Amino acid sequence: MGMLSSRLAHFELPPQWSTMREAAQLEQKTGRRIIHMEKGDYASPEFKPPGEALEAVRTSLEKGYVRYSPGPGLWSLREALAEEMSLRGRPTVPEEIIVTPGAKFAIAATLLLFLDDGDEVIMPDPGYPPDEFWARYQRATIRHVTFRDPRNVDTSQLARLITPRTRLVILNTPQRPNGQLVENTDEIAEVLAKFPHVTVVSDEIFSKIVYPPYQHRSLANHPELRGRTVVIDTFSKSHVMTGFRIGWVTAPVHLAEKYDILVQNSCTNVSTIIQEAALAALKAPETFHRNLMKNLKRKRDLAWKVVSGSKHLSGDNAQGTFYLYLKLPDGFDDRETAHHLLKNGVAVVPGSAFGPSGAGHLRLTFTLEDEILLEGVERLVEAVDKLVG
Ligand SMILES: Cc1ncc(COP(=O)(O)O)c(C=O)c1O
Repeated sequence: MGMLSSRLAHFELPPQWSTMREAAQLEQKTGRRIIHMEKGDYASPEFKPPGEALEAVRTSLEKGYVRYSPGPGLWSLREALAEEMSLRGRPTVPEEIIVTPGAKFAIAATLLLFLDDGDEVIMPDPGYPPDEFWARYQRATIRHVTFRDPRNVDTSQLARLITPRTRLVILNTPQRPNGQLVENTDEIAEVLAKFPHVTVVSDEIFSKIVYPPYQHRSLANHPELRGRTVVIDTFSKSHVMTGFRIGWVTAPVHLAEKYDILVQNSCTNVSTIIQEAALAALKAPETFHRNLMKNLKRKRDLAWKVVSGSKHLSGDNAQGTFYLYLKLPDGFDDRETAHHLLKNGVAVVPGSAFGPSGAGHLRLTFTLEDEILLEGVERLVEAVDKLVG
């Protein structure tokens, strides 16, 4: 490692990004058109941030909001987010909100704040790779909790995994990569209530991307956990603002104050202009969200209709998020299959990029223009069916 910190020993590009780079390189080298279903982003130009947010960027510049602003966030935005969290069932005051440059920063901050060398952290498998990245940076021991089925955390395993060294339990719902909602939140809360030394991290970045009749449930709404649950959320997915880089943490005041110190000493504050945009986005009319969900649902069903017709792929239609998560037949390697698909002009993410139990799965994003999405899933099904034979 030469002169670099030994903490960097594990640093490598997440496998999901490697797929993106491989796809981009192949496209550049061969000039071949690739249908990109590997990115965790909105792809079709029909998805735009609320007009109110764009207008707020313009007026903020005109008003000269180009200086530092308070680290934990503009008070008006913290107030609005506290109201939003209260409406979702977690009574919240503005002091409990810390605005961050995206949910990913909030995750990094959480793991930096809570973990020491040798501490233990429990996270889902499959899960979100940055959780693991920062846990390793902190030299913590990672324990994976698995699922009884795609929607129910194995709570007896969870209870067994918790030791006196366990500092954090991280869960995400609606889940990524598999697009399912965690159903047994009551059961999970009952287990966690028995371990008051554990802080719960509830990553809810897709909380607004849920298809009826399914309903998002938060662990933070359980009164016995509220005092030690950190909720992580973002404007990226709910308001089509991935490139704005703004999210937030909701945590009891004594913890929020620590996030405040970390933000102040790292990025100082999220760009004031972007905070104004986020505040305006929260005030967008209900039609914004209705249209977003209408378009996402149409694309989800369009993609699902094609993939569920495959002889060899299986899985569940997404209950939330904008991903489909598909199981390959037994014995088929997800990385090799993703590579094969790339050669057939379709980029997806091999499931093992999200943890050991993702092996044998593929994840695809369905936010593309309808015709391109259709072409992409048709190519995918054809290539897999031919490969399996
Ligand atoms: C589970 C999960 N958490 C956090 C993030 C990061 O979101 P943000 O864009 O706000 O950094 C993502 C992004 O896809 C995610 O899937």
